[in-house]
Amino acid sequence: MDEIIIKGGRSLSGEVVVGGAKNAALPILTASILAKGKFTFHNVPKLRDIDSIMELLSTMGADVDCDGHTVHIDTTGMNHYEAPYEQVRKMRASILVLGPLLARMKKAKVSLPGGCAIGARPIDLHLNGLSLLGADIKLEHGYVEAACKQLKGAEIYFDIPTVTGTENLMMAAVLATGTTVLRNAAREPEIIALADVLIQMGANITGAGTAVITINGVKKLKPVTATIIPDRIEAGTLMVAAALTQGDVKIKNCDPIHLKSIIHKLEKAGARVQVFKKSVRVKGQKTINSIDLKTMPYPGFPTDMQAQFMVLMSVANGFSVISENIFENRFIHVSELCRMGTDITISGSHAMIKGVVQLSGAPVMATDLRASASLILAGLAAKGTTTVSRVYHLDRGYESLEKKLAGLGAAIKRVSVKKKT
Ligand code: EPU
Repeated sequence: MDEIIIKGGRSLSGEVVVGGAKNAALPILTASILAKGKFTFHNVPKLRDIDSIMELLSTMGADVDCDGHTVHIDTTGMNHYEAPYEQVRKMRASILVLGPLLARMKKAKVSLPGGCAIGARPIDLHLNGLSLLGADIKLEHGYVEAACKQLKGAEIYFDIPTVTGTENLMMAAVLATGTTVLRNAAREPEIIALADVLIQMGANITGAGTAVITINGVKKLKPVTATIIPDRIEAGTLMVAAALTQGDVKIKNCDPIHLKSIIHKLEKAGARVQVFKKSVRVKGQKTINSIDLKTMPYPGFPTDMQAQFMVLMSVANGFSVISENIFENRFIHVSELCRMGTDITISGSHAMIKGVVQLSGAPVMATDLRASASLILAGLAAKGTTTVSRVYHLDRGYESLEKKLAGLGAAIKRVSVKKKT
């Protein structure tokens, strides 16, 4: 098991390059199920979650090969339609195979993902949508079993905008007969990225990126070569690192349009942000202003940046309030942050944060992906040494974060430790 050790107090400076977006790559890789043939995807990040989805596609009979950040998938021989529990429990985004499997094979058997550290995370909206498209759905022995003769276009209204739900339905509807309209759809950049790849494959989709997406079913799709968009959450995490350490960092290969809510809040907190075409430069200031924020579906402030901003607020001047409106249990990082000297009180979905002058390094444990990023950020700002254990959570969604931060001057390293008995 690896740990990350950080000696805090250094100001970050220099340039850093953002990798491909995990949450765009996952649905795009599963979209390959929809057509027989050879796909090539560039700028795919090297992450545990990406390994999980590639493994799942291989289990289903696809030929998957990874060469650096390029992934080749040949789906010609795909013949299995099951995503087993052992694989889905590693990564709940495995549910993204459900829509494409139904569309191509007319059958799917996918383990129910269950809850996770950040909340119950039901998939009722995915299932309701698929049954409106004509799928017969049974829940048995911990599995979703879905079958259809042919999916048929339908009007689908989401009670809540769901990112993977919108993606699953979009992928199911592209090969359905007739027209599907998704209302109150999620508007995240990753939805547009998936729609762009599906359109390149021959799908007929309009409105991706708005709350109403219209899909006219087509008979057949073809394999393509595509490039994954930059990861806005990795970019945002690096931006907070710069602001937090009073640093001066240029974050390259990002899309500033996707970062608007993050830029807005960083500027309110007092950081100077310069926006270029494909990069942003963040200069942190000595005084960090307290700010309030509410997590919301895109284009609102992303829940995936909440834990990182909480660290910034922990050393701000005064009180801040964070309201988490997406997941009911996404404050699990707070108890670990408090071990580093933060002053945070939780009341329901709100966190009251009183800024302190200095955090202090401590041994802490990562509990989920974004929580682990927040502990690393806290370690950069703290006095003394912070050791973050269980960094396999970090490796699910950040590629070599410690190397990128070290390249900016942070005193940070990864060590392998033997399992304590
Ligand atoms: N929801 C339902 N029923 C459903 C689906 C969702 O009630 O059938 C609820 C969820 O419980 C949640 C809300 O709707 O309260 C929104 O959840 P959503 O479905 O949008 O989340 P997701 O698709 O499971 C994706 C990202 C998450 C990110 C959220 C919110 C991927 C693979 N995952 O999850 O990313 O936090 O959207 O933006 O795209 C991460 O990268 O760390 C991560 C957790």
